[in-house]
Amino acid sequence: MSGSTRDHYDRLAASYDENWAAHSEAFNGWMSGRILERVGLRADDRVVDLGCGTGIFSRALATRAREVACVDPSPKMLAQLPQTGGALVPIQAAAEDVASGKVRLPYDHVDVFLIKEALHHVRNREAVVAGLARLLAPGGRMLVVTLPTMISYPLFRRALEVFAERQPDPADIAGAVQAAGLAVEVTYETYRRQFARDRYVAMVRNRHMSLLSEFDDAELENGITEIEREHPEEVLEFDDRFAFVLGQHP
Ligand SMILES: C[S@@+](CC[C@H](N)C(=O)[O-])C[C@H]1O[C@@H](n2cnc3c(N)ncnc32)[C@H](O)[C@@H]1O
Repeated sequence: MSGSTRDHYDRLAASYDENWAAHSEAFNGWMSGRILERVGLRADDRVVDLGCGTGIFSRALATRAREVACVDPSPKMLAQLPQTGGALVPIQAAAEDVASGKVRLPYDHVDVFLIKEALHHVRNREAVVAGLARLLAPGGRMLVVTLPTMISYPLFRRALEVFAERQPDPADIAGAVQAAGLAVEVTYETYRRQFARDRYVAMVRNRHMSLLSEFDDAELENGITEIEREHPEEVLEFDDRFAFVLGQHP
């Protein structure tokens, strides 16, 4: 990953779980359910949460599997992994290094890869997806959870434009998964978000999304003024829509 992405997550690590993607137990429970119903875990499955961050969803996986390898290039994000008596095994590495074999996993074959909101940070996604697919055991699953290119967050216009330019299209991810020899299925789910406006603005000011690291302080403050102008309401409500790209090894 780029140095700036690493800096972003190292800086954000301590407050990550308080931020909006993570702060809500209701959201985490909802998202965990959507993930678990797709990957269909068995206790002896070898599971890897790739780009695990602080391990919010690794923990959900560990409710069904004995052990989860938690892979992330940011040591500060990994340092926030929940203490679960050894069920979560931290591995500091980027997806590229796992896919190329430069970094070995604790298992020769993997039954489940979860890659939630991390694949957009990976360059050469086709090669990485293909490398990971080669590590799957027969019947293994790879679940990529990702935002679509168009999001309806109450951000400022330029931030939404930059997001749309940079975010990989889930259809292209599905194409890469299929090209890697996996049967692919794409589904969407929507979660209704609700935030007090002041809280949301504080999260934007804290650059809770890596996208916001693209803007300097002055640009960000102008963006916040735009948000406050466009959204006078005290509570911001919007749909958070996720794509679930599920690949299955034949
Ligand atoms: C938005 S966070 C998602 C964390 C976690 N999956 C979740 O949903 O809570 C993105 C994570 O991807 C990690 N990341 C960045 N570049 C990566 C790469 N090349 N390979 C794997 N993970 C990467 C970051 O360090 C960060 O922890």
